[in-house]
Amino acid sequence: MTIDATILNVLRTAEAGISGADLATQLGVTRAAVWARIKDLRTLGYEIDASPHLGYRLRRSPNLLHSDDLRSRLQAGAVIGREVEVFQETTSTNDVVQKLAIDGVREGVVVFAESQTRGRGRLGRSWHSPAGKGLWFSVLLRPRVSSLEVTHITITVAVSIRRAIEAVTRLPAEIKWPNDILVEGRKVAGILTEVQAEQDAIRYVIVGVGTDVNQAANDFPKELRGVATSLRQESGREVHRADLAAAMLQALDEDYGTLQRGDFGALAEVWERACTTIGSKVTIQVGGRRVQGTAESLDADGALLIRTRYGRLERVVGGDVTVER
Ligand code: BTN
Repeated sequence: MTIDATILNVLRTAEAGISGADLATQLGVTRAAVWARIKDLRTLGYEIDASPHLGYRLRRSPNLLHSDDLRSRLQAGAVIGREVEVFQETTSTNDVVQKLAIDGVREGVVVFAESQTRGRGRLGRSWHSPAGKGLWFSVLLRPRVSSLEVTHITITVAVSIRRAIEAVTRLPAEIKWPNDILVEGRKVAGILTEVQAEQDAIRYVIVGVGTDVNQAANDFPKELRGVATSLRQESGREVHRADLAAAMLQALDEDYGTLQRGDFGALAEVWERACTTIGSKVTIQVGGRRVQGTAESLDADGALLIRTRYGRLERVVGGDVTVER
């Protein structure tokens, strides 16, 4: 961990404050060096009190993404987020992670961008990623699952992202199959899973997550206004993006651990309870095929089972779902 990350970590733990001398001892640097780092953190927007009696105290963190800060909030030993990079602007965070994957970087690295110029969504759509308003990030995974089980990863991520959103905002969030997160029936987050596989073996998976956090209604392009919303619009208050990002990475690390230990069943149970698509009448467009019926359940591979009006059970693994409400 860098000195800045360690300082922020210690300040978060010592809510009542910590003396410059104690901080310097914990970091193994001089008090002057601590003071120099505190000054730098203040210029980034961290409100840190310095008083002769109470020492240093973190009063408020800025609503921006800072890689050291995010790292400092994660468990020691976490896989997801063991390296975090933040770009001001990039084409797509999935592209950046793909380069890292090709370079052989180990799994768990997370790349955020404050804005994306070519953010992409599922089914070849573009993903609107305005600066500083949302959380646009991608994670590199090298999971021990076969390429047939890639849906397990998307389901795991949907479970984690929903839990983090609920924990931080207290808003009730639902999952729309396969991987949209909705609040009050409108989309707040989407997941794009891209896989590099050879025959049946996965070389790596890039999971891109886009969450609309602090947009006002008119920050969305007109065509999205009826279907998309932001956490700020739904909760009525600005959401601290770094708090949400840290909660998402923590949840992802826990749930990815569960998946890697072979307990997909536990995640699928949570997913099924949160997925409002189950039990609904749906129309799914899969390429040129259209499937209509009632979504009954998820099968062991994470595919959706649809009972058509002719009584046949259809298995669907991807596509665009319209849910009748
Ligand atoms: C969808 O619902 O269609 C998936 C949207 C995924 C968007 C995220 S934003 C971060 C990452 N980079 C991208 O270009 N896309 C994903």
